[in-house]
Amino acid sequence: MQIPRRLDGRVAIVTGAAGGIGAATAARLIAEGAQVLIADRQDQVAETAARIGARSLTLDVTDKDAGARLATAALEAFGRIDILFNNAGIGGSKRLEESDDAHLERFLAVNLLAVLRVTRDVLPHLTRPGGAIISTSSTLAYVGYPGTAAYAPTKAAVRQMTNQLAAELGPEGIRVNAVAPGCIETPMTWKNVHENPLYQRNFIANAPLRRYGSPDEIASVVAFLASDDASFVTGQTLLVDGGWSGGRNLPLDG
Ligand code: NAI
Repeated sequence: MQIPRRLDGRVAIVTGAAGGIGAATAARLIAEGAQVLIADRQDQVAETAARIGARSLTLDVTDKDAGARLATAALEAFGRIDILFNNAGIGGSKRLEESDDAHLERFLAVNLLAVLRVTRDVLPHLTRPGGAIISTSSTLAYVGYPGTAAYAPTKAAVRQMTNQLAAELGPEGIRVNAVAPGCIETPMTWKNVHENPLYQRNFIANAPLRRYGSPDEIASVVAFLASDDASFVTGQTLLVDGGWSGGRNLPLDG
């Protein structure tokens, strides 16, 4: 497949990019011409950066100065910031009665508070007009599913943050969108995808496309949302889930 080159001259920050969706997206943005700073709490982010041709920063997005550090590093390396992809996140939620305070607070801290804080602190440096903010929500922002009590509300909040910030920043020429992945095979889901029959049955076997997605299939959508091809798209959370959230109740084959 021919990859379009829509991001020449743009600079992007991608969080949670040691592997999975973040690394695939950073590689796609680079393939489209962007210069990219990737960040992750795992040191492995440096190897990923070397492999794809990005700069890297090992950092925990829940650190209070994470946004400021990201902005400073991107400006020092590239001189501007056009795209922020808030992608760092944790999974592995539980039923509510099994979720102690530490569990609930960790999900809120990583998947919501850090997204708000990093966005707020990068925002003053974002190109305007023309800047783009994209965040990773989830199908579970839309659909009730057991065992996601701590996770799903954070992803629904990211979706609503997207609406709210689009309204707030549109007049300044900044677009704000999100991507809501369905079941994507990444380190976060590998065990469930390959070893959990319930997961197979509920997320893959009854999805209209009958398969999990790949990180590249999220990356291409993020690249679209970051590019001028999406110049009139803002305040949207785009479901990329093989049809699961729209048609998951189709009868199973056989
Ligand atoms: P992943 O586990 O490979 O990627 C998440 C990355 O975020 C990891 O590299 C991790 O080290 C990093 N991270 C976690 N907490 C961090 C912190 N406090 N500071 C800095 N980095 C941190 O998993 P995946 O699937 O690529 O996840 C990316 C995003 O996609 C997450 O926000 C996840 O919730 C979301 N998502 C994933 C789906 C899937 O099926 N894989 C479905 C829906 C949403």
